[in-house]
Amino acid sequence: VFYGPEQAGIHHRRFGRLAATAADHLLAVLAGAGHHGGTVVDLGCGSGILAARLTAAGYDVLGVDLSPDMVAIATATAPQARFVVGSLHDVDLPPCVAVTAVGEALDYAADPAAGPEAVARLAGRVAAALAPGGVWLLDVSGPGRAGPTGTSKQFHRHDDWCLGMTATESAGGTRLDREVTIFTAEADGRYRRVEEHHVLHLYERGEMAATLRAAGFAVEVLDDYRSAGGPGVPGWYVVEAGKPR
Ligand SMILES: C[S@@+](CC[C@H](N)C(=O)[O-])C[C@H]1O[C@@H](n2cnc3c(N)ncnc32)[C@H](O)[C@@H]1O
Repeated sequence: VFYGPEQAGIHHRRFGRLAATAADHLLAVLAGAGHHGGTVVDLGCGSGILAARLTAAGYDVLGVDLSPDMVAIATATAPQARFVVGSLHDVDLPPCVAVTAVGEALDYAADPAAGPEAVARLAGRVAAALAPGGVWLLDVSGPGRAGPTGTSKQFHRHDDWCLGMTATESAGGTRLDREVTIFTAEADGRYRRVEEHHVLHLYERGEMAATLRAAGFAVEVLDDYRSAGGPGVPGWYVVEAGKPR
């Protein structure tokens, strides 16, 4: 299972802040570039939080996501956007003013097409689809994501669900394994247990920047989305890749 109904629902209700801050960052960049309308393509759109903000601001949004359960929530969250279920590496990119890949969408190896070569190919396609002055805004994880020991644990409790995650980084810092266990309280008073195992490719900052520069982008690597104002997360970073005019 990859972002099945339980994890998709929990993502939407509890982990949507990142998409909201990314949307605010993008709106500021687009306004600065004089792109006050046009199409935004959201790769790995999840539950539609960024799409809702962008459509409310007058942009057309196309979202693509591997998870049908995420797309079902996205359709309700951003009814003015268009969504497709599928791989971000296969989707046709229409002419657009921005492309986004928020929440480590490029890292997930659930898609057999994903990986460093796929990112390089995608960079070429994004550069071709973007209008001059357009931007590709993304965040990804790299070496160090599981912290100094190479293993990190998280536990989240809520009224009607809890989620535990153990993340383990490979010795070379190229791969992250996340074992996720979710318990949800069901209407009949019982608890359902769901397991998801996510494998992520980790991309080193300098290599990612070089890949995007090779595709013609002006690249800025940041510790967080501008609107977040926090210290960021170890091993995780944001890339603002601008297509020159
Ligand atoms: C952590 S969630 C982030 C969702 C959303 N962008 C947000 O920030 O709220 C990662 C999303 O990327 C999607 N995803 C991962 N790899 C993908 C791929 N190769 N093609 C399309 N979607 C993908 C997952 O299904 C999941 O919805």
